[in-house]
Amino acid sequence: MDTGVPSVVPQPVAATLTRSAIFLVATINPGSAAETAVRGLCADLSSLLRAVGFRDLSGNLSCVMAFGSQAWDRLFDGPRPQELHPFREIRGVHHAVSTPGDLLFHIRATKRMDLCFELARQIMIRLDGAVTAVDEVHGFNYFDDRDLIGFVDGTENPSGPDAIRATLIGDEDAAFTGGSYVIVQKYLHDLTAWERVPVEEQENIVGRHKLSDIEQPDALKKPYAHNVLTSITEDGEPVDILRDNMPFGQAGTGEFGTYFIGYCRTPRRIERMLENMFIGSPPGTYDRLLDFSRAVTGSLFFVPTATFLDAVTAQRPAAASDAPVPTAPEPTPAAAPPGSSRDGSLGIGSLKKEAGHE
Ligand code: HEM
Repeated sequence: MDTGVPSVVPQPVAATLTRSAIFLVATINPGSAAETAVRGLCADLSSLLRAVGFRDLSGNLSCVMAFGSQAWDRLFDGPRPQELHPFREIRGVHHAVSTPGDLLFHIRATKRMDLCFELARQIMIRLDGAVTAVDEVHGFNYFDDRDLIGFVDGTENPSGPDAIRATLIGDEDAAFTGGSYVIVQKYLHDLTAWERVPVEEQENIVGRHKLSDIEQPDALKKPYAHNVLTSITEDGEPVDILRDNMPFGQAGTGEFGTYFIGYCRTPRRIERMLENMFIGSPPGTYDRLLDFSRAVTGSLFFVPTATFLDAVTAQRPAAASDAPVPTAPEPTPAAAPPGSSRDGSLGIGSLKKEAGHE
């Protein structure tokens, strides 16, 4: 029976863009005690989020928890997400480095950094001794959603059902329907050099006008424009990812830039965009933004559904087949395309499929 109730609940990957965010990447310390602590947090994350978020509901606090490839194998039994692998470095005209990361917490609030900070602190209290934070970036909003190079960032993001379709796995990996992939990279900008570039050439590099944020006409775009190299197609159709980049940094040390975060139902799309940017398309026609932006981190994670996280137990079951199967609503009809609102369900599959990961 179709209850109209989604059988799995995704994590809030497609949350609206916010003015405050923390990007926290951690590695899991050696030993099974560390794994138990991380597994223990999975099911409790929603209650921590409720406790902190309830202090100001208008703050719209949200958190996405995601897992790196090695961490997945340490933490969970059963099938693994088909496309989960470590971030692959790219050595082209510029270098996209691959850096360690077992866990990603992407914490967002409409305006209130205090909510983000408090949730990050509570998470780290829970994980004390079990993880090592390898990178923590506090993003801020810079004027009218601009990045530090002065351009509005996020304009061409998909929204509503398009964002869901771009980000959430459908039937292509039935055990993980409703999940997502996320790639993060921390870019440091050389703003002194960038500001020496005439605005007209900056606009050619981005493919948009700086003040108005209007896109350049296709016929006038340079082949190396950022929006040319990151526009890709599958089977002849344009396809999207969802970005929530944030400026960050410290004026005193000169370490500032853009934190890139991209969600997608397949990491392949983001990887193709990166190849176009770093190697060039055709090779050599690379993204000139990279002459002024150096990637100092790069990690890939899988985002399971919230339903999956809620079902994780601190102790690993002795055998996956012995795992208790939570009572689940009826599965969503497989015919519903991902992102479809025809049955109000996001078109995502059955919780029972996921129970084997406990
Ligand atoms: C230094 C880091 C980066 C900066 C400063 C930056 C900045 C921008 C800006 C200003 C735009 C135009 C406005 C918009 O549509 O959002 C844009 C568009 C876009 N960026 Fe980036 N970006 C960066 C890295 C990346 C990376 C690493 C990817 C993907 C791997 C990416 C993918 C895209 C896509 C898909 C678009 C939309 C293109 C279109 O359809 O017009 N960006 N970016």
